Amino acid sequence: MAAYDDRDGFIWMDGKLVEWRGAQVHVLTHALHYASAVFEGERCYNGRIFKSTEHSERLLKSGQLLDMPIPYTAAQIDAAKVEVLKANGLTDAYVRAIAFRGAGDEMGVASLGNPVRLAIACWTWGAYYGDAKMKGAKLDISKWKRPSPETIPCEAKAAGLYMICTMSKHAAMAKGCSDAMMFDYRGYVAEATGANIFFVKDGEVHTPAPDCILNGITRQTVIGMLRDMQIKVHERQIEASELEGFEQCWLTGTAAEVTPVGQIGTWTFEVGDLTRRVATEYEKLVRA
Ligand SMILES: Cc1ncc(COP(=O)(O)O)c(C=O)c1O
Repeated sequence: MAAYDDRDGFIWMDGKLVEWRGAQVHVLTHALHYASAVFEGERCYNGRIFKSTEHSERLLKSGQLLDMPIPYTAAQIDAAKVEVLKANGLTDAYVRAIAFRGAGDEMGVASLGNPVRLAIACWTWGAYYGDAKMKGAKLDISKWKRPSPETIPCEAKAAGLYMICTMSKHAAMAKGCSDAMMFDYRGYVAEATGANIFFVKDGEVHTPAPDCILNGITRQTVIGMLRDMQIKVHERQIEASELEGFEQCWLTGTAAEVTPVGQIGTWTFEVGDLTRRVATEYEKLVRA
């Protein structure tokens, strides 16, 4: 596949469709220097973006949290996503919206004078963890910890929060793992570098409370599904010492969908019935 900046197609940028290779920014774009950017990852299935408006609303909220109000409404963002999918002739695709402080009067840390820009791209993207969907992903344990909400607005899906994710994922890949699980600043289980995490024990489900992790839209969907199935879900602080006793584990995320986990560090998990059931039900739901 060609590099991401060298493909045919169209990208929606600041209110209009532009030719893919022409969707460029200047090197003195504020976001490039200070991570003043927020984004969304979404999936379109059979011509319908799953939870499109929830993603648009989260993007707007992330912008507010970073003090960079995005100059579009959720309805306008929803419509732009439809427009870009149509322009590229895609019905099953990943959709990436990114809002960022552009180039302008300011090149220091402050950026109030620089415009907040919005771009939306889409492309075909298969399983995020390759064949892990069948056999269970192998996860490393990151040396980086998810930061405290007093350190950074962790509710935002903000570019700056991904610096430690990229480093964690690189270290994991060097060890032959698909991803890394991160603990939080207190030492509790947090999430993977781009997905939330769930565990099963004695027929009940345990997942970290979203107090310093991204409260994923897939996470919330899966919790709803489990409760509809009359399965007890505990959203709570999970200690490292508990990993030994969990029987099953899976990740959730727009890109990851529901991916079983077979191993985290030296802890192992079976790809069990509940994991498979949740993965199948999620597949059905997004295409319903
Ligand atoms: C760090 C992190 N946690 C969790 C998620 C899952 O979020 P969602 O289900 O909204 O895609 C993502 C993916 O966006 C992520 O990057």
